[in-house]
Amino acid sequence: MSISRARLDRFISEKCQVNRKAVRLLLAQKRISVDNVIATDIAQPIDKFSVISFDDKIIQQHQALYIMLYKPVGVVCATKDKQHKTVIDLLSELLTADEKASLHIVGRLDLNTSGLVLLTNDSRWSEQLTSPINKVTKHYLVTLQEPLTNDYIKAFAKGMYFDYEKITTKPVILHILSQYQAEVILTEGRYHQIKRMFGRFNNPVTALHRTSIGHFVLDKDLLVGESQFIKLSDLL
Ligand code: URA
Repeated sequence: MSISRARLDRFISEKCQVNRKAVRLLLAQKRISVDNVIATDIAQPIDKFSVISFDDKIIQQHQALYIMLYKPVGVVCATKDKQHKTVIDLLSELLTADEKASLHIVGRLDLNTSGLVLLTNDSRWSEQLTSPINKVTKHYLVTLQEPLTNDYIKAFAKGMYFDYEKITTKPVILHILSQYQAEVILTEGRYHQIKRMFGRFNNPVTALHRTSIGHFVLDKDLLVGESQFIKLSDLL
C-alpha cells in the first residue's frame, strides 16, 4: 500500500466540483495554496498530508499519525473483529473516529502474542519498516514448554524450509536466556513464524512477546493495553 500521489488540478477539480479550466483560473488568481505556498503549477504533486487551502480556507489537512501500543494477549491485530477486541479499540480517546479509521497496523501479532505494535496512517513509513529490502529487525521474548539446547541456535541461523509457502526462512538469531526462555530476532514475518520454528523441535511456545521493531522499543513506562504517540524526532 503506498500513499497515492495526486495532481493538484485533479484534487481541486474533484473537491470543489469545478472543471480543469476553472482550476487554472483559480491558480492564476493565486487562490490556492499548498503547504502555505501559493500554487502556480496545475500538475503539482500532492499527497494526503499536503495542507491545501482555497481562499485561506483549509480544504485538506491530515495529520500523519505514528502510534506505539502495548498489545495484550487476547486482543486481535485487526481494524474490525466480531469476536475479539481489536488494537484499534484500545487506542486512546485522543483520536477521533476518522483518525482511528485511517490507521493501519505495521506488522501484526498473533492473538496470543503480546508486546509492541505500531500503527500509522503514513504508508510510506510503514513500507520502510516492512519492506524485505530494509531487513528491519524485530525482537521477541519467547517462553517454551521444553528446555532449550544449543542445537536450536544453528537450526534457526541456517533457516527452515516452510513447505506451505515454499520458502526457506531468512537467518534468525536466537539467544538462549535461560532453560526455557530465548530472545529471537527476525528480519521477516512469516505466518506464525516463531511458533512454527520451535514446532520443528516439538517445543510449544507458551508465551511470546515483541519488544522492538527496528529502533522502536516498547516503552517500559507503557502499561499493557496503553498506547502513545511516537515523537516526530524519534521517527528517523
Ligand atoms: N511469530 C509468531 O509465531 N507469532 C507472532 O505473533 C509473531 C511472530
